Amino acid sequence: MILSIPKPYPKQIEFFKAREKYVAYGGARGGGKSWAARIKAVLLALNNPGIQILLLRRTLNELRENHTTPLQKLLRTKQPDRIANYKDQEKVFEFENTSRIKLGYCDNENDVLQYQGQAYDVIFMEEATQFTEFQFQCLTESNRSSGLCLSPFRPRMYFTCNPGGVGHGWVKRLFIDKDYQGKERPEDYRFIQSLVYENEYLMENDPDYVRTLENLPEDRRKAMLYGDWDIFEGQYFGEFRRDIHVIEPFEIPETWDRYISFDYGLDMFAVLFHAVDTYGNDYVYKEIHESNLIISDAAKKLKEHEEYKNARYIYAPPDLWNRRNDTGKSAAEIFYENGVELTKCSADRVDGWYSVKEWIKPYTTRDEQTGEEIKTSNLKIFSNCINLIRCLPAVQHDDKNPNDVATEPHELTHITDALRYFCVSKVSRTIEQKPEPFFKVNFSFEEPRKKDYGERINVI
Ligand SMILES: Nc1ncnc2c1ncn2[C@@H]1O[C@H](COP(=O)(O)OP(=O)(O)OP(=O)(O)O)[C@@H](O)[C@H]1O
Ligand SMILES: [Mg+2]
Repeated sequence: MILSIPKPYPKQIEFFKAREKYVAYGGARGGGKSWAARIKAVLLALNNPGIQILLLRRTLNELRENHTTPLQKLLRTKQPDRIANYKDQEKVFEFENTSRIKLGYCDNENDVLQYQGQAYDVIFMEEATQFTEFQFQCLTESNRSSGLCLSPFRPRMYFTCNPGGVGHGWVKRLFIDKDYQGKERPEDYRFIQSLVYENEYLMENDPDYVRTLENLPEDRRKAMLYGDWDIFEGQYFGEFRRDIHVIEPFEIPETWDRYISFDYGLDMFAVLFHAVDTYGNDYVYKEIHESNLIISDAAKKLKEHEEYKNARYIYAPPDLWNRRNDTGKSAAEIFYENGVELTKCSADRVDGWYSVKEWIKPYTTRDEQTGEEIKTSNLKIFSNCINLIRCLPAVQHDDKNPNDVATEPHELTHITDALRYFCVSKVSRTIEQKPEPFFKVNFSFEEPRKKDYGERINVI
């Protein structure tokens, strides 16, 4: 049985040979990345009996056009001399040597959870910049030995990508900036630059496509034709760093001031609980992220958390004070009737986003205990606030107003808005409460304690 494929270009050969744990092939448009991913998946399946491969695109349509149909043709699935069998329902190509290529897509953020608990020796993320960092992180958990591959095989992930998109930030950090965090090891990452000029097939057969790229406006052309990652910054909060901003939960001193900020809509009730220390640092220690709650239920949900009683302020957006046609009451009034008193925050979006940037800005300081230089910021998020950690680094610049955050993907905006409402409101640091000397009188028959504050009257 013979499988004939066109001759790969030098960069594609480099991609075929790469064996690092994470290999990205990308930069510019049209270099032959999808082709290379598809062929590489087939070669891996043929050379490693039993291997389990997952090939992903963001949407079903893209998957069908870019991979399902070309693979069906290449592997002659409908002919008697077929190389692999295709199961339409499961979207799986099965080879005689028991290797499998599963095709998948992740239309919604949470679609990725279907791969949790599964094991794939190799995962291809096509157009990786269209995936959020959360989706990438989830997939790394499924990239482990399937136990079905008959030859020894170290699990790997392959990415193809162009600059721009919701995943611009994490792809750029790992493969372009090479700014590694925590346990990430530089030797695990490899980037192979792709350019349309290297794709002889396109240059010969579709010179118009190349001309279209050459005629793009300056910035976009630099990104799409030359693969310039700095021009097309999609991520709004590029300063967000997991190792700086995310911390393990600790017991918060009772004396620290509490605040709550939230965004309310029927599609999502997104609430953040804050504690501010005596230096003025904010710790986001808890979140609520729930949809389909009418206002009275949202109030009830909030009241399940003790803090609603002692929070200094519960910040909410001004549109909650608009009168509603159905009841003649505003949402803020309904919250009030249900025992939750709100404080209106500023609605200025750009001003608000700038405030968030100030709060999360990383700076260098010395660790109080070890004296070592460390990077920190005035806002920290407890690791249990998974939605804020997922959405904050994923929101994008708005195309029309780069100072604003894009309202799409809409799902990412609720909890980020809740953070903005806190950051834009003026919050002072917690003032340590000292006993008032003239009102507090302590009787004691003992020696006065050395370290004491306030005045103490000893009666002998
Ligand atoms: N080695 C090759 N020999 C012949 N044709 C090729 C080769 N590599 C790629 N092509 C063809 O070039 C065209 C563009 O390739 P492909 O779609 O893989 O590019 P891409 O880099 O994924 O583009 P995009 O950035 O738009 O996703 C396709 O028609 C593909 O079949
Ligand atoms: Mg492609």
